[in-house]
Amino acid sequence: MVQCWQADEQLSPQQAEALSQLIEAEDLVFISEDITGLLADSQEGLDRLKDIVQNLRRFAHSQDTDWEDVDVTDGLESTLKILNSQLKNTVTLEKHFAELPMVPGKANELNQTFLNIIVNACHAMKDTERPLLRIETRKEEDEVLVQITDNGCGMDEAVLKSLFDPFFTTKPVGEGTGMGMSITYSIIKNHQGRLKVASKPGVGSRFSIYLPLKRSESANKDTLSDPQDLTEEPV
Ligand SMILES: Nc1ncnc2c1ncn2[C@@H]1O[C@H](COP(=O)(O)OP(=O)(O)OP(=O)(O)O)[C@@H](O)[C@H]1O
Ligand SMILES: [Mg+2]
Repeated sequence: MVQCWQADEQLSPQQAEALSQLIEAEDLVFISEDITGLLADSQEGLDRLKDIVQNLRRFAHSQDTDWEDVDVTDGLESTLKILNSQLKNTVTLEKHFAELPMVPGKANELNQTFLNIIVNACHAMKDTERPLLRIETRKEEDEVLVQITDNGCGMDEAVLKSLFDPFFTTKPVGEGTGMGMSITYSIIKNHQGRLKVASKPGVGSRFSIYLPLKRSESANKDTLSDPQDLTEEPV
């Protein structure tokens, strides 16, 4: 492009000289060579931004939705997209997603529970040599099961005992509010689901979320697992 301007025969010698100086001063040759790549990069950046915003919007949804048919796989996928930068290059992600029926629920709330558990898993694996996050889903009788397993620091009896207490955190002041698991517990209870935790210090943790395929009119079942469930299965 720059060469075309310089080759313009209508320019007087002075104008051509001034143009040459301007081209040199503003580094226009370099810019014109670089511009295609820059525009392509910008386009890619904008596409990624669009993707992030669309996912955020899907993720946040309206806070006040009624019960709907929720696609759990969709929810997990959009949660993972939100966390992409946290997971990328550091954590090996293993997805074992089965074909699932819809569950009655609130997509934004369920996404919140997936997010809370996965973010905790990432934090727990920050000193793990080969961090591995495994997410498995399957249908089990009249429930959908989502199992999220990490090979992070794990939890001892004392942490497991307080895990769902509001404001319980082992993170330094200012880093964790200690509300993640308490909110998760309430959401799953509200969905008439069950939440089980298996964990071993130094080995890892597994959170199992069971969501019923049908809402019952009767009172909520208690979602907290029996104490023996916590250490029942090896992680
Ligand atoms: N996967 C996990 N592995 C090990 N410890 C965990 C795991 N998940 C939760 N914990 C423990 O449970 C505590 C409470 O978790 P919770 O999500 O409620 O709060 P938090 O992560 O500390 O803060 P935030 O409110 O930001 O989520 C954590 O501080 C951590 O000690
Ligand atoms: Mg948390």
